Amino acid sequence: MKKSFEDALIGRRSYYNISNESPVVDYEIVHVLYQVVKHVPSAFNSQTTRLVLLLGEEHVKLWNIVKHTLKEIVPEDVFVKTKEKIDKSFASGYGTVLFWEDTEVVNKFMASYPLYAKNFKAWSQQTSGMHQFAVWTMLEDLGFGASLQHYNPLIDDAVKRMWHLPKEWTLVAQMPFGMPTSAPNEKIFNPLEDRVKVFK
Ligand SMILES: Cc1cc2nc3c(=O)[nH]c(=O)nc-3n(C[C@H](O)[C@H](O)[C@H](O)COP(=O)(O)O)c2cc1C
Repeated sequence: MKKSFEDALIGRRSYYNISNESPVVDYEIVHVLYQVVKHVPSAFNSQTTRLVLLLGEEHVKLWNIVKHTLKEIVPEDVFVKTKEKIDKSFASGYGTVLFWEDTEVVNKFMASYPLYAKNFKAWSQQTSGMHQFAVWTMLEDLGFGASLQHYNPLIDDAVKRMWHLPKEWTLVAQMPFGMPTSAPNEKIFNPLEDRVKVFK
């Protein structure tokens, strides 16, 4: 990473205006995903997270799936606004990372560790969150702007069909990214002293 971890932590934001240019060659994006899946921790080293990188036309196909799915269930006037947002903030980007959890592996760990069985579903989600944060921060470090979206579970089946993904995978989040075309929204921070307690 170019930045220190602290600078990258501070720099990561949600970007809702992105274009389909890239500041790097595609392999650098793939390298980020490899580093994240290899080094981000998981409960009992279960390695339940699966990532799918969609670039170019494949990325556009994803957001078409989202629009087609929503068109079926959202009132027409609401859909107009939803479509505008998807086109401007997500489909307009360079790519999307899909975050999945492999439930076959989660189930195996539940069976292998009965004492902790009830924890594994939550740990799987927490593991996914760690991967999401790492990818988000590292994409920002490459010069991209990204956001985190949740059109799952509405789109899971159509996405699995499109890219022939295993039925045991559960979609957790979608992260569209691209070159930022405007600054992120203003962010309000609640008082830190209410959120961090120090005793010594
Ligand atoms: C678990 C989680 C779920 C989120 N879900 C969404 C979402 O569905 N759509 C969205 O636009 N942003 C989503 N966000 C982004 C937050 O709204 C955003 O991170 C927060 O407002 C702080 O802004 P920042 O990312 O610019 O620092 C999510 C963030 C987290 C951590």
